Amino acid sequence: MHLLVTGGCGFIGSNFIQHMLAARDDLTIVNLDKLTYAGNRRNLAEVEERHLGRRYHFVHGDICDQELVPDLLARFPFDAVLNFAAESHVDRSINDPFPFITTNVVGTQNLLEAARRAGVPRFVHISTDEVYGTLGPTGQFTEDTPLAPNSPYSASKASSDLLARAYFHTYGMPVIVTRCSNNYGPFQFPEKLIPLVYLKASRGEPIPVYGDGLNVRDWIYVLDHCRGVEAALFRGTPGAIYNFGGDAERTNLDVVRTILHLTGKSEDLITFVTDRPGHDRRYAMAFARSTADLGWRPEVTFEDGMARTLAWYEANGAWLDEVQSGAYRQFMDAWYKTRQA
Ligand code: NAD
Ligand code: DAU
Repeated sequence: MHLLVTGGCGFIGSNFIQHMLAARDDLTIVNLDKLTYAGNRRNLAEVEERHLGRRYHFVHGDICDQELVPDLLARFPFDAVLNFAAESHVDRSINDPFPFITTNVVGTQNLLEAARRAGVPRFVHISTDEVYGTLGPTGQFTEDTPLAPNSPYSASKASSDLLARAYFHTYGMPVIVTRCSNNYGPFQFPEKLIPLVYLKASRGEPIPVYGDGLNVRDWIYVLDHCRGVEAALFRGTPGAIYNFGGDAERTNLDVVRTILHLTGKSEDLITFVTDRPGHDRRYAMAFARSTADLGWRPEVTFEDGMARTLAWYEANGAWLDEVQSGAYRQFMDAWYKTRQA
């Protein structure tokens, strides 16, 4: 089986590629990644060492590229496309929405069209619970909850979900959309809450908590998300949407305190700062459809996942230092110059 994975050098994409190559020996993966600030080739260093040029191939490129993407899809007989590539950080989308529209909307459209023309038999589009908007103190999002995105990021993801839907209904293209809650785990870029808090705590720096810190997220360990995407790829019904959640609702303050407790740091580091504009109050995912149709449910508890995650960051200080200093980008530039030569 040949898979095209986009955005495979990012947090979830790199975990997915590692998981799939380890779990199955019957597939090859081509990773198409633009290597934005969030893409880091080092995330797949072990995969490259074991599989590069054999079961794993890397293409440095943009999902918006209207020559490269159709050419790639026409040239190789892919059995499926899995679209992880995106601009993914809400705060960045508030500062500058345009890259979000370009990659998340136009890029997804370009991929869908190229996959349609090439007759790719499966397209899995990776989306988010944020497309549903925000919840009050009770209730959960189901796949039938109306879309009500509140940030430029979530609006761009909802737009791409609707394009995926349109390609199924108009062209009969076998598109599946997955929507997941907040991921955490190894290789997450330290702009997102959990690695950011770990980083600040380990340096004894103030930890910025937006607003009153009582916003709730439903945290899922990244491997559980990857297993969900795998299940959707092999067992999903074309045209369907599948929710994945972690069954682990926590306020941001709970999450921050857990990290401070596990790292032995003082709660005095907590610093309340101005709230994020349009900040969604609560997310919670109902995933009964994924359990019934895909046999999927999250397996890693929040406590176990946090212990694993913090142990990973502890053991991978060099990765974090390189990301923090920007050295990982120089490393990649040097690597590409060598390859081109
Ligand atoms: P990330 O920001 O860590 O990684 C994104 C990757 O996409 C990077 O490797 C980047 O270089 C690549 N990329 C960006 N623009 C590109 C383009 N135009 N062409 C090719 N590659 C490009 O993101 P993530 O957290 O790993 O999220 C992956 C996907 O999962 C996204 O679609 C996101 O919306 C979705 N998602 C994320 C979460 C979460 O909690 N992080 C939860 C649910 C869904
Ligand atoms: O729900 C899924 C989404 O989760 C994904 O689609 C997004 O790609 C991903 O970035 C994530 O979005 P959030 O905005 O929920 O994640 P973030 O880590 O940025 O923030 C989590 C919560 O923590 C949120 O309520 C804002 C708050 N926060 C965040 C940061 C970075 C703080 O209080 N302080 C901070 O410094």
